Amino acid sequence: MRYLVTGGAGFIGSNTVDELVRRGHSVVVLDDLSAGKEANLAGVADKIEFIRGSITDPDAVQKVCRGVDYVLHLAARTSVPRSVKEPLETNRINVDGTLNVLVAARDAKVRRVVFAASSSAYGETPTLPKVETMPPAPISPYGISKLVGELYLRVFGQVYGVENVSLRYFNVFGPRQDPGSPYSGVLSRFCAALLEGEQPVVFGDGEQSRDFTHIENAVNANLLACEAPNASGLVFNVGTGGRYTLNHTLRLLEKISGKRANPRYDPPREGDIRDSQADIGLARTILGYEPRVGFEEGLRRTWEWYYATHRSEAAVQRT
Ligand code: UD1
Repeated sequence: MRYLVTGGAGFIGSNTVDELVRRGHSVVVLDDLSAGKEANLAGVADKIEFIRGSITDPDAVQKVCRGVDYVLHLAARTSVPRSVKEPLETNRINVDGTLNVLVAARDAKVRRVVFAASSSAYGETPTLPKVETMPPAPISPYGISKLVGELYLRVFGQVYGVENVSLRYFNVFGPRQDPGSPYSGVLSRFCAALLEGEQPVVFGDGEQSRDFTHIENAVNANLLACEAPNASGLVFNVGTGGRYTLNHTLRLLEKISGKRANPRYDPPREGDIRDSQADIGLARTILGYEPRVGFEEGLRRTWEWYYATHRSEAAVQRT
């Protein structure tokens, strides 16, 4: 089978590409390297086709879709606070870009499109865990952009017969998540701060919670979503079903790393939701999804990866 992975040089994308290659599939990656890095694909560079281009370029997307069986559409502007600062740009990439991918997928008659949706579509819900039947009510431009993507997928299924699945990821973390920007995922930021001997910054009181989901679980869900029967047209939560506060997470990281965190507390971020926790019943039933790596184990593996990467980068700088 031939897979197109948009955003395939990014965090979730490159981990997904690795697994596709491991399973012997043919892979083409479309990535403009605005957030992704070619280095993320170093291990599979000679086994895949890499096209540098943007999902906002309809011609580029049309070209890469030719001859493709499955599209994993993972390219996006991923940050909530960045969307608060730059709503137009977030919409251009996440909404217009997704529409380009859908049009090209329709024209190329692909078997299915799987879309990286987001738990941020829920906004603040009165009860937890969040279930797919709850009405979406995003509270950030980012959340809106991801919800619109889902709606477009569904409509492309109804109007043009394009098979589609949307996966609402819940705070995916793990190796290759880039800690290098203030907009990066919180666990990557915490690990980097501890390694640099800096104070991790907590926005708010640290009692907000997330269903942190190790990358291996997200990759597994991506691959299941391509082929699961009876899944087309549906939206699935992809999480673990648990939730952890930032304060608890920092205590765990202290235990794992043997370092003191000594966090600094800053005012809460605009557009942030308070709590997040997935009901994964639907994904279990229809996709056959089961989280394989729990939070603590995932955090330990993630810390070890950042630690090893930091050491080898420091060694390179010394030479
Ligand atoms: C994350 C993803 C988003 C995804 C969503 C649901 C990133 C950058 N964002 O959004 O793409 O759709 O989950 O899966 O991966 N925080 C700190 N200190 C920091 C950074 C963040 O305290 O240095 C706090 C934030 O204020 C927030 C929480 O940590 O309360 C999580 O933030 P973040 O990692 O940016 O993720 P989400 O906004 O939940």
